[in-house]
Amino acid sequence: MSILFSPLQIRDIVFRNRLWVSPMCQYSAVDGMPQEWHHVHLAQFASGGAGLVMAEATAVLPEGRISPEDTGIYSDAHRDAWAPIAAAIRARGAVPGIQLAHAGRKASTWRPFDPRSGSVPIADGGWPTVAPSAIAYDGFATPRALDADGIDEIVAAFGAAAQRAVAAGFAVLEVHGAHGYLLHQFLSPLSNRRHDEYGGSLENRARLLLRVVDAVRAAAPDAAVLVRLSATDAADDGWDVADTVHVARMAAQHGADMFDISSGGLVAHQRITVGPGYQVGYAARVRREAGVAVSAVGMIDDAAQAEQILAAGNADAIMAGREWLRDPHFALRAAGELGVDIDYWPAQYLRARPRR
Ligand SMILES: Cc1cc2nc3c(=O)[nH]c(=O)nc-3n(C[C@H](O)[C@H](O)[C@H](O)COP(=O)(O)O)c2cc1C
Repeated sequence: MSILFSPLQIRDIVFRNRLWVSPMCQYSAVDGMPQEWHHVHLAQFASGGAGLVMAEATAVLPEGRISPEDTGIYSDAHRDAWAPIAAAIRARGAVPGIQLAHAGRKASTWRPFDPRSGSVPIADGGWPTVAPSAIAYDGFATPRALDADGIDEIVAAFGAAAQRAVAAGFAVLEVHGAHGYLLHQFLSPLSNRRHDEYGGSLENRARLLLRVVDAVRAAAPDAAVLVRLSATDAADDGWDVADTVHVARMAAQHGADMFDISSGGLVAHQRITVGPGYQVGYAARVRREAGVAVSAVGMIDDAAQAEQILAAGNADAIMAGREWLRDPHFALRAAGELGVDIDYWPAQYLRARPRR
């Protein structure tokens, strides 16, 4: 009996298994609009047996894009461009999800496969960035500190984006609160030096995230709302696991259904040692201490390893990123490796199914 290949239900949404596609930016949008690349890229994982296919960090405002080639969902035209992609994922048996994001001080940067690095100058199509405080990420342009109206605009933008995402057909909405982007910048004392009700105490630093969760939940009452959190900044005096547990507990009370536990991204001088399953311990701790559902992510590349994480009670689902890029049919292969019979091999591919 495989836990990895047993269904999971959140609200009325049933996932056929617990091997999920982690959000991965493709840096290939035009004016925030997803392209044919995104359609093929995301649909193939659904054909490959994923339980959830999560579309990449998608900006709720144009200035919230990491790079000028990031996807967005800040207009109804974006909603309409996403709709056939969500439908293609659903038609192949996976649940369509989308990560809603604002990059804050890490916005307006060159995409990773551009030879240039750092901030995109305004003259080259970049834009001024915003953050809790006017403190730059190492090597990037200095952001402007948001005022109260700017914060309200961001909360409203997350709500509007959630509404569009549901209208486009997405059933899972993930609030990107990790990797040093805007919501994480508010959470961490290293990037948030505010003296108003959004800075200082943990409750104050979490206020924006909780307002965003409220806005998303209100706009999408039936959606599964996930929150991705970095469990630690891995830097002196930074955000840590105990803070993550505390905020996960609060966000659950505000209507978040599950927490996707990652790490890092806030400062360039972070110290993280990567290796197989290197973030699982964080997910396990949040699950146990906050009493919430979690997904584990980070170098979980193997069926037996994924199964063991779930069997040990360390997570409720597995997010994988790069392994899906190496093998878009990861779940079909994983089921074979675990000896599990699944009834969603695409009929067109059945002649390739390994014999048992
Ligand atoms: C090409 C690429 C793009 C990524 N884009 C995002 C993103 O949009 N949002 C996010 O939260 N994480 C992003 N990540 C991180 C992945 O979701 C995942 O957490 C990370 O790659 C670790 O998992 P893995 O070892 O299974 O790849 C990205 C990773 C890769 C490789």
